[in-house]
Amino acid sequence: MRKKVTIVGAGMTGTAIAQLLAARGIADVVLVDIVEGLPQGKALDIAEGSPWVGFSSSVTGTNDWAATAGSDVVVVTSGVPRRPGMTREDLLGTNAGIVRAVVGSAAKHSPQAVLIIFANPMDAMCHVALQASGFPAARVVGQGGMLDSGRYRTFIAMELGLSVRDINAWVVGGHTEATMVPLVSNANVGGVPLATLMRPDRVQAIVERTKRGGAEIVELLKTGSAFNGPAAATVEMVQAVLLDERRVLPCCTLLDGPYGVKQAFIGAPVTLGAGGIQRVHEFKLSDEEQAGMAAAAKAVLELVAATPRA
Ligand code: LAC
Repeated sequence: MRKKVTIVGAGMTGTAIAQLLAARGIADVVLVDIVEGLPQGKALDIAEGSPWVGFSSSVTGTNDWAATAGSDVVVVTSGVPRRPGMTREDLLGTNAGIVRAVVGSAAKHSPQAVLIIFANPMDAMCHVALQASGFPAARVVGQGGMLDSGRYRTFIAMELGLSVRDINAWVVGGHTEATMVPLVSNANVGGVPLATLMRPDRVQAIVERTKRGGAEIVELLKTGSAFNGPAAATVEMVQAVLLDERRVLPCCTLLDGPYGVKQAFIGAPVTLGAGGIQRVHEFKLSDEEQAGMAAAAKAVLELVAATPRA
């Protein structure tokens, strides 16, 4: 029997994930949303492309949580996006209520699922999802570091004119401008240290552009935030879980010990496979990077304290 993935929210991001995931043919996809007709229309449209894209898995849209039952992975994209001038943190109160409600329903219908959390402020929303689901922390994963690493790798590849596939450069820490930690100390291109390929001021410029990567898209689009990059990053995570690929990827996870962080969701390198987070990888960062991890943990715990309760 095929694996099943539910995508909550049939907006831009949910639709992009459904499309990319369906194209891989590795799972049946259920798109669920409260707006009548929206998930049904989006799903039917994607399914009607399947003869040409060439996948056999099903894509269905629904307003009924019962249709999501028994999902292996549930991706929660629901929530309002940023508009120009807003930070991710501005969305805290609104999105906490939405995430709490949908995660409660998701957990009820798919009690064994791995949850992938999307809504901003993403690290704080992982805390909300952990609490609302009652799931073990290994099965609550945030996608921020994946998206931010996609941006970091893209910008390095653009600067060097080299294949993005060989850029090994990862973003950990928080998914906010102030708390993102693009790792420079171990960045390399096919094993060649980045520092030997790029001047320090150019590396720094790319680090800063990465931190503002989400805002750059918001400013260009004017009516919403990024969805293609986030969707691509998420689909890699979904596949890692479904196929137990045991990828080593930068994901948002509940750290409790590694990097000196206690009980805070922030991005770190993890093994991602069946059952979600299988392991957190800890290694020595530069002093500045380590300080960034501590600052990210402090910031997310402040947001958690400020999150309105149900
Ligand atoms: C971004 C939003 C989706 O970084 O968090 O684009």
